[in-house]
Amino acid sequence: TDFLQNVRRLLGNAGPPGRALALQLANFEAQRRAEQAERMPESRGDVGAIVGEPFFLPLYKLFNIYGGVFRLTFGPKSFVIVSDPLVAKHLLKDNAKAYSKGILAEILEFVMGTGLIPADGEVWRVRRRAIVPAVHRKYVAAMMGLFGHATQRLCDKLDEAAAGGVNMEMESLFSRLTLDVIGKAVFNYDFDSLTNDTGIVEAVYITLREAEERSTAILPYWKIPILRAIVPRQRRVTKALNLINEILDNLIAICKRMVEEEDVQFEDEYMNDRDPSILHFLLAAGEEVSSKQLRDDLMTMLIAGHETSAAVLTWTFYLLAQNPGVMTKLQEEVDRVLGDRHPTVEDMKKLRYTTRVINESLRLYPQPPVLIRRSLESDTLGKYRIDKGEDIFISTWNIHRSPKLWESPESFVPERWPLDGPDPTEVNQNYRYLPFGGGQRKCLGDMFATFEVITALAMLVRRFDFSLAPGAPPVEMTTGATIHTAAGLLMDVSRRRTGSDDHPDEVSNRETNLASTRMSEA
Ligand code: HEM
Repeated sequence: TDFLQNVRRLLGNAGPPGRALALQLANFEAQRRAEQAERMPESRGDVGAIVGEPFFLPLYKLFNIYGGVFRLTFGPKSFVIVSDPLVAKHLLKDNAKAYSKGILAEILEFVMGTGLIPADGEVWRVRRRAIVPAVHRKYVAAMMGLFGHATQRLCDKLDEAAAGGVNMEMESLFSRLTLDVIGKAVFNYDFDSLTNDTGIVEAVYITLREAEERSTAILPYWKIPILRAIVPRQRRVTKALNLINEILDNLIAICKRMVEEEDVQFEDEYMNDRDPSILHFLLAAGEEVSSKQLRDDLMTMLIAGHETSAAVLTWTFYLLAQNPGVMTKLQEEVDRVLGDRHPTVEDMKKLRYTTRVINESLRLYPQPPVLIRRSLESDTLGKYRIDKGEDIFISTWNIHRSPKLWESPESFVPERWPLDGPDPTEVNQNYRYLPFGGGQRKCLGDMFATFEVITALAMLVRRFDFSLAPGAPPVEMTTGATIHTAAGLLMDVSRRRTGSDDHPDEVSNRETNLASTRMSEA
């Protein structure tokens, strides 16, 4: 190879005929390298084989047959499926610049535009640099009151159900809880979706369902403008998007006025106490950004931070219902550390077992279960060459359940994460644990989301016992962007006897009132 390279250099210096020869030689070398690379294992299938069950399940079976990198081909279309942590590291970190979001960006364009999740290249770089500082530690700490307040509303709702002996469908309640949190946290809007089910809340769900439908649909009929204009479902989507955009524009305008009236110096950890939202930070930072881009970013965070956290809570409660021993240990920790207080940021360090329960739930049910990329140039994945323009699925599901990487991979064992060790989402597990992705596109809401779900989990299990409702449909998976249950998570919810029933909880009520004042002021 060295010899060929030297010949090529000499030829390159020998005028145009030499350069032409050098080019031919380079092509010859590339061809030889491609021949030397091993042929990637290939699974040929028909689409029918993966329709009907969540698509990441057949990918797990194929991973056991074909290994950590293989090609899945349907007729003319093919995908590279990656379940090897070191190849995932290469894609997400070492050579991340050579990959874009591909299909994902195409599917989400209608709702997120060029928001941070679908964005690539320069737009992504600029917006990432603007948004990451907004989610600083002080901001997340300030959100603790909001997490507690929103969960308190859910507790109040569950109190009624527990008193009346009514079973509750928890998946939709978690979805509403996290919608209320993210609306307030990102653009200071109180959806109040736990009590309100019309207008804007419905519009958010129509949009979300459409994004999920598009990510799993086989025929992208909505790309045809005339069908978009006449199919009733698409007209509803357009109407819902218009309503959300109108509200976002309005919130941006209100926030701009607030920022103009302010007379404070913008600093790195800037926060406005009346409105600590991410939107307020972004406007106060005063960076050049179009309203359309700002709206795309807000919409992206609304969706990214809503369904993911809700799905984590749903599957955590499902797992706890099957593992009463874990539930008992969890409740013991929460009783000891918190009692009936709302959690503070200091409690996050003390609720170690609670954190491990979430870590382990995220291992078994990663949200989303698959990360999507497209190669911008040819590259080598492990032993295999890939071309430019290849669609790649990194299966977090497979990596998190690989028998080569985990002992009893299918079992829910929070103890596998040492209690006194660092949070596994923050230390390098060498890409075998990727609940928030990795590398330059790692989730920027990871701390926010972790504290949000720990708060909700701790407060709920302190107050209630949960079990699967007798006669409820079996809890099966279906997928959109995150893993959903096929028919809901119907639970029997009953008040625990913790001693606090006899002594109305003054501390938590006082904190709740404070939080409400803050929220209504804002
Ligand atoms: C990206 C998971 C909550 C905002 C990601 C990625 C994952 C993830 C796996 C990487 C996607 C990829 O590489 O293709 C989660 C989980 C959450 C959660 C499991 C809840 C438990 C949140 C929240 C926010 C958020 C609350 C907003 C405050 C984002 C954004 C990105 C992202 C903006 C794109 C980052 C970029 O491309 O630069 N999330 N997320 N996420 N997440 Fe989260």
